Amino acid sequence: MSATTTGIESRSAPLRTRARVISNEPDGRGRTLRLAVPGWPGAIPGQFLMLGPGAEAGVARRDPLLPRPMAVYRDLGVVSGAAEPSIEVLYRVVGRGTTLISEAQPGQSIPLVGPLGRGFPVAPGPGLALLVGGGTGIASLYELARALLRAGRPVLVLLGARSQDDLIGRRDFEALDLELVCATEDGSHGVAGRVTEPLAERLRRAVGEASGASRAGIEVFAVGPTPMMRACAGIAAELGVRCLVSLENPMACGFGVCLGCAAPRAEGGFSLVCRAGPVFDAREIAWEGLP
Ligand SMILES: Cc1cc2nc3c(=O)[nH]c(=O)nc-3n(C[C@H](O)[C@H](O)[C@H](O)COP(=O)(O)OP(=O)(O)OC[C@H]3O[C@@H](n4cnc5c(N)ncnc54)[C@H](O)[C@@H]3O)c2cc1C
Ligand code: FES
Repeated sequence: MSATTTGIESRSAPLRTRARVISNEPDGRGRTLRLAVPGWPGAIPGQFLMLGPGAEAGVARRDPLLPRPMAVYRDLGVVSGAAEPSIEVLYRVVGRGTTLISEAQPGQSIPLVGPLGRGFPVAPGPGLALLVGGGTGIASLYELARALLRAGRPVLVLLGARSQDDLIGRRDFEALDLELVCATEDGSHGVAGRVTEPLAERLRRAVGEASGASRAGIEVFAVGPTPMMRACAGIAAELGVRCLVSLENPMACGFGVCLGCAAPRAEGGFSLVCRAGPVFDAREIAWEGLP
């Protein structure tokens, strides 16, 4: 394992293999894909996979050609009675690749490369960690929440979506020992409105009430649509709080070859999201240059 100067973590060489589908079930408007991955080395929260667009029978698939980036939602290890480690991917069907992934049946295999990229830094301490997930960004936060809890951090998770059925993974977060706030734009579950509103309120309160090390250690971790992450970055910056984001730029290769995932840097130039990220300190990003 290695770390950058910002403390954002990466791990050793990724695995290239065929994962076996254990289950592929609906979760509201999302789906949970459970995969057995022989030799899976474990991932740092925030790292991702390049997942083949659908199951492969004997021959390699050529159409669609490119794999799809997906967060490692839950890293289950070797569950009792199983021979291999298993992981879960939580996803929404939005186009051809995810439609094919949704059709993969138990027993079939899906090509997988990972874990890839640099994940979230997890530091112990008394500072509140506020995790903000919007839409499919929620999938990048479950293992982060668990790692922060293991490190002894107080954790507040804020999940936002259009409506109740879009709050994918909600029940898994409810089962963790943390405070959970949900916001839906149509008011069908939790607070009505955008998730950035309770974030601003809770962050202001946390900064106002904290002192010393617990104030300096407060952090925001945000994953979701670009406007949501940009708003989280602005709220955190106003209060002098560090904000880490995980960018979801479309990716073709996942390991620095195609240059398709470049994101503009605040200091000029570009970073490859798949290699330098997907996790960045929000101050490193030129937000106005992202789609
Ligand atoms: C690091 C990373 C982690 C990701 N983790 C997850 C995850 O855990 N769960 C999940 O459901 N999705 C995740 N995504 C997004 C996911 O990769 C895309 O939804 C998927 O590639 C779409 O493939 P498709 O063939 O179904 O859609 P396409 O046919 O390629 O596109 C369908 C529509 O979705 C839009 N789209 C495609 N990719 C993205 C994107 N990255 N962001 C926003 N819109 C997009 C396209 O513009 C188009 O309008 C992640 C992306 C990245 C970069
Ligand atoms: S996805 Fe190809 S360089 Fe990043």
